[in-house]
Amino acid sequence: MQRTLFVTTALPYANGPMHIGHMMEYIQADIWVRHQRMGANLVHFVCADDAHGAPIMIAAEKAGKSPQQFVADIAAGRKPYLDGFQISFDNWHSTDAPENHQLAQAIYLDLQRAGLISSRVVEQFFDTDKNMFLPDRFIKGECPKCGAKDQYGDNCESCGAVYSPTDLKHPYSALSGATPVLRNSEHFFFKLSDPRCAAFLEQWSQGTDARGQPRLQAEVYNKIKEWLAPDEAGRRELGDWDISRDAPYFGIEIPGAPGKYFYVWLDAPIGYLASLKNHLDRIGVDYEAFMANPALEQYHFIGKDIITFHTLFWPALLHFSGRKTPNAVHVHGFLTVNAEKMSKSRGTGLDPLKYLRLGMNPQWLRYYIAAKLSARNEDIEFVPDDFMARVNSDLVGKYINIASRAVKFLNAGELVAAPSQAQLDAPGLVAQVRELLEAREFAKAVREIMAFADQVNLMFDAAAPWKLVRQGEIQPAAAVSSLCLEMFRVMTACLKPILPAVAAEVEAFLGCAALDWGNALEPMGGGHRVGDYRHLMQRVELQQLAALFEAPVEAPVEAAPPEPAAFPGGEAIAPPIGVDDLMKTDLRIARIVDCQRVEGSTKLLRLTLDVGEARTRNVFSGIASAYQPQDLVGKLTLMVANLAPRKMKFGVSEGMVLAAGHADGKAHPGIYLLEPSAGALPGMRVR
Ligand code: 2FM
Ligand code: ZN
Repeated sequence: MQRTLFVTTALPYANGPMHIGHMMEYIQADIWVRHQRMGANLVHFVCADDAHGAPIMIAAEKAGKSPQQFVADIAAGRKPYLDGFQISFDNWHSTDAPENHQLAQAIYLDLQRAGLISSRVVEQFFDTDKNMFLPDRFIKGECPKCGAKDQYGDNCESCGAVYSPTDLKHPYSALSGATPVLRNSEHFFFKLSDPRCAAFLEQWSQGTDARGQPRLQAEVYNKIKEWLAPDEAGRRELGDWDISRDAPYFGIEIPGAPGKYFYVWLDAPIGYLASLKNHLDRIGVDYEAFMANPALEQYHFIGKDIITFHTLFWPALLHFSGRKTPNAVHVHGFLTVNAEKMSKSRGTGLDPLKYLRLGMNPQWLRYYIAAKLSARNEDIEFVPDDFMARVNSDLVGKYINIASRAVKFLNAGELVAAPSQAQLDAPGLVAQVRELLEAREFAKAVREIMAFADQVNLMFDAAAPWKLVRQGEIQPAAAVSSLCLEMFRVMTACLKPILPAVAAEVEAFLGCAALDWGNALEPMGGGHRVGDYRHLMQRVELQQLAALFEAPVEAPVEAAPPEPAAFPGGEAIAPPIGVDDLMKTDLRIARIVDCQRVEGSTKLLRLTLDVGEARTRNVFSGIASAYQPQDLVGKLTLMVANLAPRKMKFGVSEGMVLAAGHADGKAHPGIYLLEPSAGALPGMRVR
């Protein structure tokens, strides 16, 4: 039966770029979501920026921007991370969006009707230097529970305790350094101490998800149960939760309470619903009806530092406002890099965008993270040597290589009916991997797939098709190779949630339909033709890892840059690169076998290029102002042959030809296509 799932990852604060910890969580959730989609389940996978709160307000002020502009600028930088690591969110929204204002206010009013909102005057820390009540994050001191120093005013990063800032020992203002004074202010509370709340949470936290699995991991339940169980005197640790903050505050106004705003942690998780609603509105699905579906499953992926918010406050908010509660909360541990603990604000030495800029394959990181993740919330470590070994030896050495080894022994890519191989239990592999992915036991799934790849390689080696061919046994060599490719297809299906881009390339290479759990075991069969093998994945190089962790060089203090007029060709020489960087660009000699004008464009010519491959390439080039198409046909030129294909308005461009020109094309309009000296042939590399 098709399941309908609503899946989220924690909403990142809109006060800085994403770091590797965010990417790990998104990759974990994305693998799970892709696995669900392969099972033909309907998934709505959403996230948003967590926009509110005093820290963001203060950061915006420092940057000289309105908070709205500040968070919009942060939001504008999210795409390269998400696209770069192939995170398949259906929507990215903001907790400052109108949907969230409406939902947060509605939920609050429902809680009020349920008798679960109270208000009272409380003493709050006030910074007399700054003339404002101090936000929790700007009061620091010792954790009242474990005594850890320099903890924030709302929760302890060391023991996870959640408390009020006034509970901190030896508090100080992080804005001015002053010791804050106490002042009175009326605050609103969600009455978690109401016996109904503890009763509900005790039952909810021990419940099961849609598949009958505990909705909380054992270690998570153990962590929160101390909040729920009454002590000998019948008292619980679960106290009322302060959900209001005084102006000035960037947040959502509390209905009927001018000058009071919801504390950011009240409206942040409601942002999950706001993002979903925004997504459903856009695809024409009624939000209320969608949420009313009793079969809808709701899952949240989060880190272990925000367990209390998601397993106590959030389900209680939802339940007592008459809304659906999460089916499960999936908690992961932290990612350490080179044994260095990740900090929320600073991240670690592994910068996700730098990783991509260095040309490192995002599929490597997805694979590595999958190979380390279990369903427990234990920390995992990024160890560069281990990363390199797993990608190079396992992923490329065991799995990818099967395809390149086997395809050589087919006749013109044609599969022959493969012999049955009792020892290769492909149905068993698929069943087990599905089960493990469902249970978020990704490391185990990867181990199973690699063990299977070992078996396939052993079978291939034992059959030794290269020897068979020498002995003239062409058909048996093709048969064992066909079997390997069938198994390669099955393994690709198993890896597809982890390696979506590799799977897409394999589907194209094998010429088979998009892989899913329904068709994973369908053989391509004798007579099926696979395409030309193209190398599917490079190995990680040591230099790449060295460059990834190289500290950024401080920019040297320089004299003022020369006037642009003094620059050769109208522009400064680009910053220095190493030979490695240069060699990433694969320049080839290309013959222009055809050239056409592009209808609808005055700038572009469409070139058909022979680069010495079995096929020609289609490349668009902005040289129409300088050349007549017929003058170019037959000429040799230089092209960047490994530029990823780009979809343009007029078609896909599969590379770029090289031409010289002045930076100021208006003042100096000449464009000069490069031509090699006589004797060069299409396909020769330029170095
Ligand atoms: O801890 C954090 O980074 C928060 N911004 C997470 C919010 S998750 C959800 F509640 F919005
Ligand atoms: Zn503590």
